[in-house]
Amino acid sequence: MKSKTLSCVLGAMAVVTAAASTPVSGNDVALKFNPANSTTRELVMPDGKTVQYRAYEHIYYVTNVEDSVYQYLNFYVPESVLASGAEVPILLRTYVGGYMAARAAEPSPTDASGRALAEGYAVCIPGSRGSNSTVESAGQKVFTGRAPNGLLDLKAAVRYLHLNDEAMPGSAERIITDGTSAGGAMSALLGATGNSPLYEPYLKAMGAAEARDDVFAAVCYCPITDLEHADMAYEWLYACTNSGVRKLSDEQKAVSEELASAYPAYLNSLQLKRPDDGSLLTADNYLDYLKSFIIQSAQRAKNEGCDLPANIGIVMNSKQRPGEGPQQADRPRGPRDDRPRPPKDNGRQTPPPPGPQGAPAFQQETGEFVLDVDLPVYLNYVATTQALKTPPAFDGQGVLTDKATPENSLFGDSHGTTANFTAYSLNKATGETELDKSLQERVYLMNPMNFITDDACRKAQHWYIRHGARDRDTSFPVPVNLATKLMNAGYDVNFALPWNRPHSGDYNLDDLFTWIKTIID
Ligand code: DHB
Repeated sequence: MKSKTLSCVLGAMAVVTAAASTPVSGNDVALKFNPANSTTRELVMPDGKTVQYRAYEHIYYVTNVEDSVYQYLNFYVPESVLASGAEVPILLRTYVGGYMAARAAEPSPTDASGRALAEGYAVCIPGSRGSNSTVESAGQKVFTGRAPNGLLDLKAAVRYLHLNDEAMPGSAERIITDGTSAGGAMSALLGATGNSPLYEPYLKAMGAAEARDDVFAAVCYCPITDLEHADMAYEWLYACTNSGVRKLSDEQKAVSEELASAYPAYLNSLQLKRPDDGSLLTADNYLDYLKSFIIQSAQRAKNEGCDLPANIGIVMNSKQRPGEGPQQADRPRGPRDDRPRPPKDNGRQTPPPPGPQGAPAFQQETGEFVLDVDLPVYLNYVATTQALKTPPAFDGQGVLTDKATPENSLFGDSHGTTANFTAYSLNKATGETELDKSLQERVYLMNPMNFITDDACRKAQHWYIRHGARDRDTSFPVPVNLATKLMNAGYDVNFALPWNRPHSGDYNLDDLFTWIKTIID
């Protein structure tokens, strides 16, 4: 629902918006929002408060529906917003997990969808096809959701919101996507690929609206992304566990070493820069950068009252001598002077309290500051909390096992085949050296890293990216690179590796919704 004021503010985009917001083509007429199809419901939040809301459900967002179980969206808005006509943000929550199909769901009081309603925002929950969705056609089972179809469905849902922005509650200029894991990857793709012409032929064939598909912000919990480089990254990072807790066989170790040795060239090719001082990140200094996020995470946990376990590689300050700063007194002494430095503010959220009048500075208690992390010790600890994946972690099929991973299924075809999607694993599995062109294109379309500096698309301006500090489903460089590439390109990125978090999403909703308030004000 677009107010006059917002239309004026958006005047600069009038050419695109005007074409996009009034259904014109026959297809777009068929995709017109019908406000009469609604019911009133109530959501009881964990704190006992209730939210009255209007539900608009089962709205097909394409005209050539292939899979009627998944290709529709549900839309919800608080009654108070409906009454006021306020131009509130729309949280678009995807429940994609494991790259499988996800149904359009109802808002849940325990995740960001219910919280968004309670905060007075609209909520869109689109279903989408995925690696396991099938239909019967001419007596054959057809797999409907192999890459990039799940993403195309979500983009078509975004287009529906843009097309119908005038008629629908909330503002399609304020779509905030949210997902976890494969859903976090989908959220990142929605954030990075807005209006990209590369998806256009597919979307046209599906009967998606002729409208924009860019979004305002992307919330990505533990995105399982950059799939074609994730195997290398995993082995490069976790090599230090191979003879420790990981217990690989000799064959697995050999694969691990080959993959790890290929990662530095990729990492260097990204030409990432440290956001704090602009220095070039290379495979030689990258781990210091990664450590700064773990140090920050541990420091924040410490400040919030957590006891950090001993022996997991977190190096704390010891007792200060008057007049000595923590860095001089506590820095572990060793032969190298290029040892990693803690972040400039030592990871603190708030400065330490000043000492009493006249007292020397830095009279801090033992164990107040996180100074460093011994990465091999920490990574071995992570691997004790949940067994690491075996190499190759993502494109595993046909290498040392016949088992297909969720990603092998994602890149299979409509007949239900599964497929290798990296030249390395393809070569090990079949002896071939190159993926066929159409598969190369599908892999490309599923990687948000390819679009961040692509001027042909309109990226989300705001990003909230989280990956648990003991999440081993993909390795830390994957989300760190995504966040860093976005920061380097000038986007607003709120990134952290929350302490002691395993693979999970929609946590610390107070933090998320405080952030959302800052970006919409
Ligand atoms: C998910 C987890 C994985 O480890 C993976 O490889 C792909 C997807 C998930 O939880 O969505």
